[in-house]
Amino acid sequence: MLNAAQNERLTQTSKGTPMGELLRRYWHPIAGSSELNEENPTKEIRLLAEDLVLFRTTKGGIGLIEPSCPHRKANLSYGVPEPDGIRCAYHGWVFDETGACLDQPSEPAGSRFKDKVKIKAYPVEELGGVVWAYLGPAPATVLPKWDILTWDNVERFIVSMELPCNWLQCMDNSLDPVHFEWLHNYWGSYVLGMEKPAEERAEWKERMQSENARGRHEVKVGFDRFEYGVIKRRLLEGDTEDNQWWRIGHPVLFPNTLRVGQNRNFSFQIRVPMDDTHTHHFVYRVQVPEEGVVLPPQGPVRVDFENVYKPDGRVRADWVLGQDQAAWIIQGPITDRTDEHLGATDVGIILYRKLINEQLKIMEDGGDPINVHRTDKGPIYLQQEHSYYPGYTETGGPFRDMPLHSPDVEMELAEKISADFA
Ligand code: FES
Ligand SMILES: [Fe+2]
Repeated sequence: MLNAAQNERLTQTSKGTPMGELLRRYWHPIAGSSELNEENPTKEIRLLAEDLVLFRTTKGGIGLIEPSCPHRKANLSYGVPEPDGIRCAYHGWVFDETGACLDQPSEPAGSRFKDKVKIKAYPVEELGGVVWAYLGPAPATVLPKWDILTWDNVERFIVSMELPCNWLQCMDNSLDPVHFEWLHNYWGSYVLGMEKPAEERAEWKERMQSENARGRHEVKVGFDRFEYGVIKRRLLEGDTEDNQWWRIGHPVLFPNTLRVGQNRNFSFQIRVPMDDTHTHHFVYRVQVPEEGVVLPPQGPVRVDFENVYKPDGRVRADWVLGQDQAAWIIQGPITDRTDEHLGATDVGIILYRKLINEQLKIMEDGGDPINVHRTDKGPIYLQQEHSYYPGYTETGGPFRDMPLHSPDVEMELAEKISADFA
């Protein structure tokens, strides 16, 4: 349980707040590259409690600027793309990717007035078919080249959803593996069963739960800190500790990304804070082909905008990610953590809060928090259990032979960590 000030410190997103400043040290995905094209050269963006306009010039350059034209405040998302910038709809002033004013066509010939006008602009980069933005202090940190963003011969797509809740409750869920057998198995089966005729429900429920199709019982969960965040491990009933679910696990990248997948699917679930009560859930999926298969070149990476709600206004829970999103949304816009009761299985959540608090302190002392990159390390491979990496014939890829070791924390240590955290 946190006090109100602690809860605020962890959930606020605007500039000048501790968490808002910490989140500004990281690059955030704001759109698929394919969203900005000749038909749609601009996109309105809300990121870290700021309204911004993303635009693509006719030469292919990309910029992220404040929305209001500094002349008489028309919204620049209505502007017209030109080779070197965007021309305001109202009186034709032009701004480039750095926010410089290049042209004021109705000012007297020879006027230097435009040199005095500059608007706010943030660095953007494109990688893996995604537009990434950095809103932090200069110099910008380096955008990390995570493995799946860089692989050739794969198929990628993006799923994009806007959720009416704070980003941290999405992350709490990623440190809470025990929800799988309840939210996905038990409740998910119930929700899907309710869409069937009444006489089929009992049989459906029995089949879903007996097949363990949607989440086996977890005997234990464990968490390790690593260079970029936390590795999450689970031991499922009937498995030994040599199973990759336990031995390899998968990561949560600090501060707001879950890496997950199995077999030939790899994905990032990135919980992009739009503001204190809205999160852009940016899901980046990569499908690796069967061994030896060469795919045709993919072209633009597709973006699917999934519905979060059913026609009756209730949150959709007819798919696994929808069930997670439902859990986050039904906790309210900002979960009241002053009135929660964390148990032993919430050890990962406690660990993550401790980690965030440590990183806030590091930033406040002038240092770089975890997973901030200052050099380009090239592709960074991340561990993901039971998965076929390109170029490897067995699951686990480069992590296949990882030795067994005890995680930093398991459930039984929850009480101790809880005491440390208080
Ligand atoms: S309001 Fe943009 S040019 Fe006048
Ligand atoms: Fe889940």
